[in-house]
Amino acid sequence: MPEEDKEGRNYHVEKKAKSELFYLKGSNELGWGMKNRLARVFNPKDGRTIMLAIDHGYFQGPTTGLERIDVDIMPLVPYADTLMLTRGILRTIVPPSITKPIMVRASGGPSILKELSNEEIAMDIEDAIRLGVCGTAIQVFIGGEFESRSVVNMTKLVDSGLRYGIPTMAVTAVGREMARTPKYFRLATRICAELGAHIVKTYYTEEGFETITATCPVPIVIAGGKKRPEMDALEMAYRAIDQGAAGVDMGRNIFQSDSPHGMMQAINAVVHGNAKPKEAFDLYKQVKSEEQK
Ligand code: 5RP
Repeated sequence: MPEEDKEGRNYHVEKKAKSELFYLKGSNELGWGMKNRLARVFNPKDGRTIMLAIDHGYFQGPTTGLERIDVDIMPLVPYADTLMLTRGILRTIVPPSITKPIMVRASGGPSILKELSNEEIAMDIEDAIRLGVCGTAIQVFIGGEFESRSVVNMTKLVDSGLRYGIPTMAVTAVGREMARTPKYFRLATRICAELGAHIVKTYYTEEGFETITATCPVPIVIAGGKKRPEMDALEMAYRAIDQGAAGVDMGRNIFQSDSPHGMMQAINAVVHGNAKPKEAFDLYKQVKSEEQK
């Protein structure tokens, strides 16, 4: 028989129970599981994230820098907050002992040889649960040929994610014919958030980016886009954070750099260390020169 418990000491009647607001924009009304997953993606200390985007193969095959994810990308993982990738790469290459949060690419269909906006949801929510991911990602093509389908796909993924506490990240894809203006991105990001996305991934604009973050009621992360000189990429990340982005979801500007390790650490300094671009660039050069010794 267990001993009878003697209760009566630690009621702390004078202390009010805490009821705290969740730190991420637009996320306070979400359920515990959803918030907990978001808290693994966005560092609770500063509300920011560095997602390493390596999902490009889902429509363009073995992209430069991603030919051997096992060899070239896995060593970068410690410097990322989150990995964004497909379930195929997750299952075949990433060891299940990994504790980094995963955003899994859940849309697909067309390759670069076809109309890219003709995407479908390409994964069951049950598989996302099975994989223990912290969120799903889906492309939304505002103004694209299959605009409505991509928007409705996103809402379906949001609905299934809501059932199980899995956040959805909408990725605003820009067709070749679309101008990358603040006006376009205000439209695209706002539509995604209004229709339920919990995170929106978009592109940085040289002018007026703060109007995009201001009018989008959920956290925004920026894609890196095409490879640019390292200093420019760091400058872009710095400005995006300064103008209200909650982080980066960057791929080519990291894994196509001549020093992916250097860029990873430099981006980390910008996003989590508030480093100025020049300071971060010096760190990149330092890591690069150490690698060459
Ligand atoms: C494809 C994606 C990619 O993951 C991502 O945008 C690519 O990242 P980057 O532009 O930084 O290489 O979402 O649309």
